[in-house]
Amino acid sequence: MARNVNFSRPKDTKKTLLQLLSYLGRHKWYMLVTGFLVAVSGMANILGTYLLKPVINNYIIPGDIPGLIRMLIFMGLMYLAGALSCMAYGQMMMHISQTVVSEIRSDLFQKTQKLPLSYFDTHTHGELMSRFTNDVDTITEALNGSFTMLIESFITIAGTFTMLLILSWRLSLIVFFFLAVMFVFVRFNSARSRKYFARQQMYLGSMNGFVEEIVTGQKVEKVFNHEPQDFEEFCRRNEDYRQAAVKALTYSGLTIPTVVSLGYVNYAVSACVGGLFALSGLTDLGTLASYLVYVRQSTMPINRFTQQINFLLAALSGAERIFDMMNQEPEVDEGKVTLCNVKTDAQGNLEETESYTKDFALKVPASDTAGSAPFRLIPLKGDVRFHQVVFGYTPEKTVLNGISLYAKPGQKIAFVGSTGAGKTTIINLVNRFYEINSGSITYDGIDIRQIKKDDLRRSLSMVIQDTHLFTGTIADNIRYGRLDASREEIIEAAKVANAHSFIRRLPQGYDTPLHSDGANLSQGQRQLLSIARAAISRPPVLILDEATSSIDTRTEKLIEKGMDALMEGRTVFVIAHRLSTVRNSKAIMVLEKGEIIERGSHEELLEQKGRYYQLYTGQFELE
Ligand SMILES: Nc1ncnc2c1ncn2[C@@H]1O[C@H](COP(=O)(O)OP(=O)(O)O)[C@@H](O)[C@H]1O
Ligand SMILES: [Mg+2]
Repeated sequence: MARNVNFSRPKDTKKTLLQLLSYLGRHKWYMLVTGFLVAVSGMANILGTYLLKPVINNYIIPGDIPGLIRMLIFMGLMYLAGALSCMAYGQMMMHISQTVVSEIRSDLFQKTQKLPLSYFDTHTHGELMSRFTNDVDTITEALNGSFTMLIESFITIAGTFTMLLILSWRLSLIVFFFLAVMFVFVRFNSARSRKYFARQQMYLGSMNGFVEEIVTGQKVEKVFNHEPQDFEEFCRRNEDYRQAAVKALTYSGLTIPTVVSLGYVNYAVSACVGGLFALSGLTDLGTLASYLVYVRQSTMPINRFTQQINFLLAALSGAERIFDMMNQEPEVDEGKVTLCNVKTDAQGNLEETESYTKDFALKVPASDTAGSAPFRLIPLKGDVRFHQVVFGYTPEKTVLNGISLYAKPGQKIAFVGSTGAGKTTIINLVNRFYEINSGSITYDGIDIRQIKKDDLRRSLSMVIQDTHLFTGTIADNIRYGRLDASREEIIEAAKVANAHSFIRRLPQGYDTPLHSDGANLSQGQRQLLSIARAAISRPPVLILDEATSSIDTRTEKLIEKGMDALMEGRTVFVIAHRLSTVRNSKAIMVLEKGEIIERGSHEELLEQKGRYYQLYTGQFELE
């Protein structure tokens, strides 16, 4: 009985309840039937007890056996109807609640995919995960049990009280006195245990957080021989948790026995006084019997009612956190320009096609050229320009201060500079992961804000700095770049990325399953796979962010050759620490503190004898 109740409270109960009800409202017919069945079950109970009075007074005392049998059959049928309704609404509510939480989960998942990256920067993974796990669980539980139990308890309480008053208002005074005592005790006690439950919850979070950290940082723990200290720390948190849990359960554990004992005393006193009433003729035996059963039944629903209210409030506060995330502003996407595959027809005109052709075009809705074609096609070449771009992840600190640059189709542009200079940030902006503060970025002459985000991202292939591989086979992971790629195209992409040779040597080749982010591969191999994944979509613009940092120079040279062939006539942005990687770039931008301090080709920069020259000659080290 003493469950671990999370005593958090929703901040805006009404709003959250309304939003939750809007989910339940989709199943309103089921809900209505459930409510009806709950009412039947509650009423059957109340009425059944009331029938004791006529059974005793009209049939048992006068000795009317056939009448008694009829009455008993009637009561039996009524209780049966109650029991069947109870079973039926339990099943129905289970279905409704599972359906509702599954709808909430999928809405939440969809919302998660639409949230801007900045949301993930400011919320921990653990926090977001617990929306899907803990919070959804509390809602399920509350919908499953508390909702119906609350309604039934309410009906039982109201019915019982009415019946008590009808049967004997004088005796009811005793019951009301004891209920008042119980109520005061429960209030007082739960206020005390709530404090400790909150503390218990906090220590539980702290212990779980610690375990998570140790599990993910296992290697580092071993490298630094940190096991004894960590164990000590764990024991401390474990002990804190134990103490808080014991205190919380001590108080909450008192509630039920005390309420039950008070209930017995109430019953005993009612029985004695009722007996005296019966003797003095103030009441009859049938009324007394039925009355006393009501008294026995009166404590449990009250106890349950207060407990269920707690569960429900906990669920609402979970729901509030979920809805809060759902109600966040999604990534803005006002773009109207879309991307399509094109082929050139006999007259040399561009023509849109459904199939994959390696040639892309931006499809611009023609609002100005009314009367002619509804849109015009601009072949995608990969001309990217930054005009005075200012950007900061937070309003307080700007990271890029007025960046201007251009990359013409077919050019390879490199960024070099110390860690934290803003290289990754620049390419995050091309992809529109974040919104710029001022300035503009154009793509083949069109402001990227006018391009639909999905299409913009489809046209830019990117190897991001943190490689991430998904659960699945190696082939699946390469195909991630373009879902309709054939086996041959996958192998071709792997060859470009120079991954083919190592994949071939694996016992299962392209069908080797990858576990947790490719843990069964070396860091360099993981990078080769991400390059293959980017290469398979043959995009007009390729972005490589430290894509070859864990790859040896010989392999890197081979990849470079493959890439140069692949990206012939297309634009490439490269970020690299190794200057040998960027030497043959058309232009090299040297970045420092969010500004381009030098730009030019390798030779030009060497001639300038500036920062690049220092880097190249080893007078100035990156990092
Ligand atoms: N997601 C982020 N939220 C807030 N600040 C960030 C974020 N990513 C990077 N920064 C900050 O922006 C600056 C530039 O980072 P970044 O572009 O990643 O550097 P580089 O790739 O050149 O090493 C750094 O000062 C870093 O602290
Ligand atoms: Mg970086």
